Amino acid sequence: MSFSPNKFITEKTRELKDKIGDHRAIIATSGGVDSVVCAILAKRVLEKNSVVLFLDNGLMREGEAAEVKSFFDKMGTNIEIWDVEIKERFFEALKGKRDPEEKRIAFRDTFYKTLGQAVKSYSVDFLIQGTIATDIIETQKGIKTQHNVLSQIGVNPSTFGLKVIEPLKELYKPQVREVAKKLGLPNKFAERKPFPGPGLATRIIGEVVPERVEKIRKATQIVEDIITGKSVFQVLAVLLSDKATGMVGGKRVLGDIIAIRAVESKDARTANPSKLPWATLFKVRDKILKEVPGVVKVVYDITPKPPSTIEYI
Ligand code: XMP
Repeated sequence: MSFSPNKFITEKTRELKDKIGDHRAIIATSGGVDSVVCAILAKRVLEKNSVVLFLDNGLMREGEAAEVKSFFDKMGTNIEIWDVEIKERFFEALKGKRDPEEKRIAFRDTFYKTLGQAVKSYSVDFLIQGTIATDIIETQKGIKTQHNVLSQIGVNPSTFGLKVIEPLKELYKPQVREVAKKLGLPNKFAERKPFPGPGLATRIIGEVVPERVEKIRKATQIVEDIITGKSVFQVLAVLLSDKATGMVGGKRVLGDIIAIRAVESKDARTANPSKLPWATLFKVRDKILKEVPGVVKVVYDITPKPPSTIEYI
């Protein structure tokens, strides 16, 4: 049966009213399509009884906090940004961790602890978040722990002092985009390429430390600026943990390796590498070599999902 965004909005509006009544809620947003759609939908229903919150965790893209703020301002929605000591908290939790799942769980727990604290500090009763079906399925199947899934894998949100509502949990990405358009979000936004909640932490193999995050933030900006094709579902740059030999000023140096990945996909459950023109790849390569310090190799990833996943951790 085909999906009706109108029907979805009507049903979720009723459901949110029933569940929340006169209580208050925090609506968490990362600026990505899912959590923004969730925030705009929930804010319409709850109005003054809700606070939209963005955690500036130090793992976001270049200029993301300012962009998210300006987007919500344009939509006429107030947004609170928590940044004081938040970055340090996430870096501290990730310190020394190299295993992908350990990193994901450290991120998730820090995320929910911070939201638990926010719920207290704004004296609200609920957390509303934009978890979608793919997040839940991948976590339940044990493919990877997505940062925004708890109860579906037996972790009680009350551990973090939370009661969680997930209005988008039955939807896949294409349906979220349809709802985004129906809610009046600009096309440019509704079609924005996905970016994972744990942000640049998923783009670093090995330890996540500020200096490595800076490198991958710059590389991410480069690939996103250059690889913009409509058929590309998602594009990413990843900092590998190994070093490779390079030549600088005629001398051997050990430098970083950055992998570029661009995929075509409908809903992120399966994906194929995009057949990008060489000219595009060369442009990306040149800009990365010039602007990201210490990189001596840029490689293009041609693996499909499965057996790979879209992200690297
Ligand atoms: P994978 O890497 O498993 O990812 O093929 C499928 C889609 O989910 C995104 N992703 C995440 N999104 N929290 C999110 O909100 C996460 O922890 C997370 N991990 C992966 C990924 O970018 C892709 O679009």
